Amino acid sequence: MNRCSQMRGLLKLSVRAVSCVPRRPCSGGRPPAPLGARVLTDPRDIFQHNMWDHVQWTEEETEEARQKAEQNSEEKIPVEEQSKYYREAHKYWDRFYEMHQRKFFRNRTWLFTEFPELLPPDAADLCRPEQEQDLCSESGSREKQQLCGSCTLTSHMDTFPGQHAAFRILEVGCGAGNSVFPIISTIRGSKAFLYCCDFSSQAIELIQEHPDYDPAVCHAFVRDICDTTSPFPFPHESLDIILVVFVLSAIHPARRAQDVVTSLAGFLKQGGIMLFRDYGRYDLAQLRFKKGQCLSENFYTRQDGTCVYFFTKDEVHHLFSNAGLEELQNLEDRRLQVNRGKKVVMHRVWIQSKYRKPYLIPD
Ligand SMILES: C[S@@+](CC[C@H](N)C(=O)[O-])C[C@H]1O[C@@H](n2cnc3c(N)ncnc32)[C@H](O)[C@@H]1O
Repeated sequence: MNRCSQMRGLLKLSVRAVSCVPRRPCSGGRPPAPLGARVLTDPRDIFQHNMWDHVQWTEEETEEARQKAEQNSEEKIPVEEQSKYYREAHKYWDRFYEMHQRKFFRNRTWLFTEFPELLPPDAADLCRPEQEQDLCSESGSREKQQLCGSCTLTSHMDTFPGQHAAFRILEVGCGAGNSVFPIISTIRGSKAFLYCCDFSSQAIELIQEHPDYDPAVCHAFVRDICDTTSPFPFPHESLDIILVVFVLSAIHPARRAQDVVTSLAGFLKQGGIMLFRDYGRYDLAQLRFKKGQCLSENFYTRQDGTCVYFFTKDEVHHLFSNAGLEELQNLEDRRLQVNRGKKVVMHRVWIQSKYRKPYLIPD
């Protein structure tokens, strides 16, 4: 194919990409996320950005992607060889962090624009200890009860890190802290507290040794979220937000993802929100896998032994709604990534979702 026809193909693709632009929904009464503003309307502009938003796929593109995924998953890794990827998953991630340290993932700069729910509400004064008695005795004020974390807790735990915080966030599978440090710098000085865990002790060491790690606002600990019987260092129904970004994809969906989500949901307060972002079905990363790396449908192992699943929106919906959570947002984020140097375009697909624990309506 000569350069001219390559360019024509590219332009055709990008024009199709913008035929219908969905609006991003607001969630929780907050403003819509600003990401998603780079909409390609004139194909001649394609090389002006390195990413275009709200890309629509044609039927041919979907079919081509389906065939590629079918081909690269034709040969499955034999079942008897598969168990090591589950049993030793934390060791593969330990090696990953030994090798890459903090350098592999970029800081999640989109975090607060896509997930403004992470920002502590303006509740700084609500939880001063002398006010707790008054607030707790006020019946029927759900909002205030939610803001005042420590007074709503009925727990066997006498003390726990972050117990006096007004707003508690947990990040699971936090890795080397690409979300943790942006969150720490944002909540410092507020009444919020961040917990973060990962089953890789290497990753947690990288966080604890980081110059910005501060036990006054953050508690990092080693924890396998698939082990749903071990305790967490905070009580049930004590969290306002649980952040689940690019971690459920590392867990076999049919094996444990549902148990993980259900057990995590137990730690949310009523009205607390689970924020999710992860790989979507037919993302470039899925289509790039070679034969011989597939463990089961849409689940693969990389050369380094770490695993990755590619979700559909419906699967994510089932995971969260089966855990008793209600949908605030569940969208497919389809983009066109442009390598301007090499003049190549690639389809990216992520799923982004927000699910809330419903308030109990008293009889
Ligand atoms: C793709 S990385 C994402 C890291 C981080 N969430 C981010 O977005 O930068 C996946 C992370 O999940 C962690 N992980 C995978 N399975 C886990 C499990 N069962 N329990 C806790 N952490 C897990 C890995 O160690 C790794 O740090």
